[in-house]
Amino acid sequence: MNVTVIGSGYVGLVVGACLAETGNGVVCADVDVEKVASLNAGQIPIYEPGLDRLVARNLSEGRLRFTADVGAAARHGQVIFIAVGTPPGEDGSADLQHVLDVAGTIGRNISAGTIVITKSTVPVGTARKVRDEIERHTDAPFHVCSNPEFLKEGAAIDDFMRPDRIVCGVESEEARGALQELYDPFVRSGNPLIFMDIASAELTKYAANAMLATRISFMNQLAQLCEATGADVNRVRKGMGSDPRIGRSFLYAGAGYGGSCFPKDVRALIHTGDEFEVDLTILRQVHEANEAQKALLGSKARKRFGDDLSGMRFAVWGLAFKPETDDMREAPALALIEEILAAGGSVVAHDPVAQDVARGLHLGDRVEFAADEYTACESADALFVVTEWLQYRRPDWLRIREAMRNPIVFDGRNLFEPWRMRKLGYEYYPIGREQVR
Ligand SMILES: NC(=O)c1ccc[n+]([C@@H]2O[C@H](COP(=O)([O-])OP(=O)(O)OC[C@H]3O[C@@H](n4cnc5c(N)ncnc54)[C@H](O)[C@@H]3O)[C@@H](O)[C@H]2O)c1
Repeated sequence: MNVTVIGSGYVGLVVGACLAETGNGVVCADVDVEKVASLNAGQIPIYEPGLDRLVARNLSEGRLRFTADVGAAARHGQVIFIAVGTPPGEDGSADLQHVLDVAGTIGRNISAGTIVITKSTVPVGTARKVRDEIERHTDAPFHVCSNPEFLKEGAAIDDFMRPDRIVCGVESEEARGALQELYDPFVRSGNPLIFMDIASAELTKYAANAMLATRISFMNQLAQLCEATGADVNRVRKGMGSDPRIGRSFLYAGAGYGGSCFPKDVRALIHTGDEFEVDLTILRQVHEANEAQKALLGSKARKRFGDDLSGMRFAVWGLAFKPETDDMREAPALALIEEILAAGGSVVAHDPVAQDVARGLHLGDRVEFAADEYTACESADALFVVTEWLQYRRPDWLRIREAMRNPIVFDGRNLFEPWRMRKLGYEYYPIGREQVR
């Protein structure tokens, strides 16, 4: 099938490459001319394991092309995916400017029978706005549908190739047939391709992210109670997660959730609730609890060192909002680093892949970037562990203790055992577990 994907970011690139891999003729478009040039040269502007090989293979075999001519791309596809960003507006609502821009371009270039699929995460009611915008430019009949994406950065290829489920909101048999044909190769193992109405599909994506964020904020608050009472949140997690009605995933207390999805999607859903006069009080609390959690490492540091951190040097391990990605959007590390800098401290940061993005887009020269995690600890007054990269899980603690000015560790991901850190001679501050002073 001829497929167009408009927007070649994390989602668009993965969708385009995976659909090309199953034999479709895919054109990916983006307004970012430099990005398109580097993609056509086989260079992937983001870090996503396995994506470079997938793109290179499909480029060289002629099933995948990139273009900055969005109109021409729109003329190519029998099926057009809209996969542009939907960043938060000032009031927390999803900003649909890019989606509707693309809809206009599609309207000016569409041929009869085209299936237009919203892949971006968009509030309930957006497919109707997309339809209206396209209809302003054409009389040709076409179909709109909603097909939200559930991939996780860092495991995106696998998630797309072997999805738990694929959700499709459709209102015509033609759209249903096209989606079925496109996705059949990915659900051969029997995982469901779930068809529903468009509004329900649009809402499903927000509901899923909001539920996951709720679990995290719930555990983060529970961790505070654990610290206050002498309980251990890791043990509580294991005990409760073994109940199959609860399940084990997304029960980890930590430094707060970040990334390009949870924070913005929770806020956008609250905003949709407001629009329809439904007060989503639970989600307001989820958001507020997370804001507080992102400040927790900073406040633990202030409690230990006081409000004035001048002359002190802090190592930070992990900048990306989670491992296996270079995505820094709303990363908890940023909140911590800003707080240290504002209190007069200096920061030496390390991340295996996100340092360039951190320097280029967020921190500039305000922090030092270390060549490895050990160098980051040299003469540090404390170490903060913010992202649970694998390489941080079993470090050489003796070497680190030699390098640091003070053997003090604030662990925002509960990677280590308090008893062991005590034995190694560290002050150790995990989240929701015994604090070793
Ligand atoms: N990143 C994720 O893990 C993830 C997962 C599921 C869903 N989503 C959703 O998918 C959507 C895209 O997310 P992303 O992370 O890929 O964003 P992104 O910022 O990485 O990529 C968006 C791309 O769209 C391009 N773009 C913007 N306006 C355009 C236009 N008018 N025409 C063509 N291209 C245009 C940008 O240049 C950019 O390359 C969002 O709605 C997001 O919420 C993201």
